[in-house]
Amino acid sequence: MFIIVVLTFLFGIIYLLYLRYTYWSRNGVPGPKPLPFVGNFILNVMGENSIGEIVTDIYRHYDRYPFFGIYRGLTPILVVKDVNFIKKILIQDFKHFYDNDNLVKQTVDPVLGRNPFFCKGEDWKRRRAQLTGSFTTGKVKNMYIFMDTSSSRLVQYLENQTRKSNTVYVNDICARYTLENVAPCTFGLEAKCFEEKESNFRRIAEEFLAPGTISKPQQIIMDLFPWVKKYFKLKIVPEKVDQSLKELMESTLKYRKENNIVSHDFFECMAQIMEQDSSFTSLDMVGNAASFFFDGYETSTKVMSFLLLDLSLNQDIQDKLRKEVQDAYKKNNNKFTFDVIQDLPYLEACLNECLRLRPSLPNMQRTCTEDYTYTSTDPDMIPLKVTVKAGTPVFIPVQALQSDPKHFVNPDKFIPERFLDKEEYSFNKICYLPFGEGPRNCLGKKFGLVQLKVGIANIINNFKITFNTKTRYPLKYDPHYIIMVAVGGIWLDFHKLDDSTM
Ligand code: HEM
Repeated sequence: MFIIVVLTFLFGIIYLLYLRYTYWSRNGVPGPKPLPFVGNFILNVMGENSIGEIVTDIYRHYDRYPFFGIYRGLTPILVVKDVNFIKKILIQDFKHFYDNDNLVKQTVDPVLGRNPFFCKGEDWKRRRAQLTGSFTTGKVKNMYIFMDTSSSRLVQYLENQTRKSNTVYVNDICARYTLENVAPCTFGLEAKCFEEKESNFRRIAEEFLAPGTISKPQQIIMDLFPWVKKYFKLKIVPEKVDQSLKELMESTLKYRKENNIVSHDFFECMAQIMEQDSSFTSLDMVGNAASFFFDGYETSTKVMSFLLLDLSLNQDIQDKLRKEVQDAYKKNNNKFTFDVIQDLPYLEACLNECLRLRPSLPNMQRTCTEDYTYTSTDPDMIPLKVTVKAGTPVFIPVQALQSDPKHFVNPDKFIPERFLDKEEYSFNKICYLPFGEGPRNCLGKKFGLVQLKVGIANIINNFKITFNTKTRYPLKYDPHYIIMVAVGGIWLDFHKLDDSTM
């Protein structure tokens, strides 16, 4: 009897797995064979490859298909290659793909859960509308002063560092620089990242971004079976970090009120919303400020490090960029202003190209919110039809699209000119998605780009950068992060330019 029960149970499990893992083939969607329980992400579970690398490999294999199906654990995911379908998901039929694919819950993670990136439905719409006004060009221009100060501190810090050794851990200096900008803009504080080895603000920021209270096995289970989070209250950010952020915010609010301080920063925009809208609480304010860390700090830090690496590997491009930057600097009485920084087309092209080669988010992840049927009509692809059911995650494979020779000439080469000579290097705009696209695109794009340009312009104006073999190259991306992070970090040599070359 016992043996019959065990066998029935085992056959039941095998049958359920069979049903799960034939979901795509039964719906006429091609895709690689999954392994029981891990689906197609075994190399990620084993710590070998990042999700971006895995999806890019499969994308290349299914070259002639408009989409393909994979499995994350037991969850079927549709990966879309057809550019018309991508346009429909992100823009034209956005109402069917309203939410990002994640399970951060506001009730469990009150601070992180208020980040628009993790919000869903009407809550996302309301928060996005509240925040949009804080990210205009005018508002970013008002905050330029903070970036100017941080970049001078960065140059000073590098001068001191290079007196001891030319070799610089680039991830570290870029993190110090971006935090030095984010701290005054969001929390109205001085981060002291260049003065102190481990500043209090940096410690809180890193704790907020670290996987905190979730142990490694818990994390693997959540990656494989994300729906378990619905049943277990797994908190992503530790309670003490939430508390530190709340205390920081409240003390600045009190200090500014008592001393009648009005500053032109995000903090002030949030304080104004709180005065006008009684439903916007101090917790919402903390949540929004913390969003800037989560969405802006790591992304900007990594992009800045990658661009410095690209410039070290392409000395001719570095020289051309330095000429543009130094000419503008001299023409403007040895100063970079907001307008000068905005008028450096080659710098912008270098940044765009860096974001093409290594987009921060290698896969954009949406959830289908209303059933949706699509029939591919691309003449270069095998015609296929799919009905995406509500609740199904959909990946837009940004890294794979941006390195596809069908969309970009010489995709593996760093060629900033492709963003200047639109004829020779023409490409479909929808294949270039470093900041996303449509109603859910990156809110901080303007802020992020200006802070990167100021930092890079000041470095290039003062230093020649060369490659250091301590950097693992070709780069390997860390499988534990959803954004692109180089294993081992980036190490480069900085050589101070003397006055005659400046
Ligand atoms: C170079 C730096 C940055 C890159 C590459 C980047 C990239 C992205 C990407 C790819 C998305 C997802 C877009 C989508 O799903 O369509 C996103 C969303 C977002 N980003 Fe950024 N980002 C950067 C800097 C920033 C900064 C500095 C801030 C804030 C100051 C910020 C705030 C946000 C927010 C709030 C969202 C969520 C938008 C929503 O879901 O409505 N980002 N970012």
